[in-house]
Amino acid sequence: MLSLTLHPNSILRKRAEEVGTITPEIKELVLAMIETMKENKGVGLAAPQVGVSKRIIIVKTENGPAAFVNPRIFKKSRTVEADEEGCLSVPGIFLKIKRIKKVEIEALDFDGRKIQIKAEGFLARIFQHELDHLNGVLIIDRINFWQKIKFALKI
Ligand code: CO
Repeated sequence: MLSLTLHPNSILRKRAEEVGTITPEIKELVLAMIETMKENKGVGLAAPQVGVSKRIIIVKTENGPAAFVNPRIFKKSRTVEADEEGCLSVPGIFLKIKRIKKVEIEALDFDGRKIQIKAEGFLARIFQHELDHLNGVLIIDRINFWQKIKFALKI
């Protein structure tokens, strides 16, 4: 199991780098990330959360945990919905975050094949949360002014 990078940490604030090819080292990292996500009872994990600034995320899909390398959203619905979200790097905090309801993601899978996936609701939320991690964005950045005040005062 890998150790989790917790906020505040500069690696969580950097734009993660694209992965060139899926090497055996990358596969090893992916497997360790899956194990780490499961151990921590997470539904998603991004490489910067285990101290690796690369564009790799693990998402718990209906078929189990899957890796998405160099993921990008190429289609979005217009509707948004707000729901509670937590983050393994910001433990003990749950914040109501607005996310796009439906997204379509393009990425490379574990074997380096180009894949596309449609996600809706909770799954779409996980993808957006993990993609945020690859761009140095945390849930505490996505809240409004009043939520920020509450968060700062811990109320
Ligand atoms: Co997170």
